Amino acid sequence: MNIAVVYQSRGGLTKKVADAIASGLHTAAWSVEEVKDLECDLLFLGGGVYPTGLDKKLKKFLKTLEPRSAKKVVLFGTSAGGRKPFGMMKALLERKCVFVDNTFFYAPGQFLFLNKGRPNADDLTKAEEWAKAFITR
Ligand SMILES: Cc1cc2nc3c(=O)[nH]c(=O)nc-3n(C[C@H](O)[C@H](O)[C@H](O)COP(=O)(O)O)c2cc1C
Repeated sequence: MNIAVVYQSRGGLTKKVADAIASGLHTAAWSVEEVKDLECDLLFLGGGVYPTGLDKKLKKFLKTLEPRSAKKVVLFGTSAGGRKPFGMMKALLERKCVFVDNTFFYAPGQFLFLNKGRPNADDLTKAEEWAKAFITR
């Protein structure tokens, strides 16, 4: 199975989760800005939440993804906790008829005085274990 890990991250917190997932899958994580001509069976795709919702680079990526670019997408993300990115991501993907798995991985992300130090080592171990379990289920 051909697996890709792609993320959007302004401050590096979602990238930490993406790297942990990629490490569990013995692959590398790519940012939405870097990735080109994606064709995979399973795409782990993640992002953060900002005042306007999703980052515009992630939205652009979601709007250009086709079912032939990724047979199945599974989502991960970080946020301060007020909102989570999954519903917004899933809605954009389903508009393009891209198949999105119902499960996702979430880790709190530090923002101002909230979630200090998160995602922490424990969150990253959980992300790695979740990805490994996902592909063997
Ligand atoms: C300018 C800014 C605005 C944010 N707005 C929200 C928000 O509206 N709701 C929320 O749950 N989290 C919000 N967050 C928290 C981020 O989603 C969280 O810190 C996330 O882990 C950032 O991921 P990144 O470091 O990969 O960009 C905001 C963070 C920043 C820096």
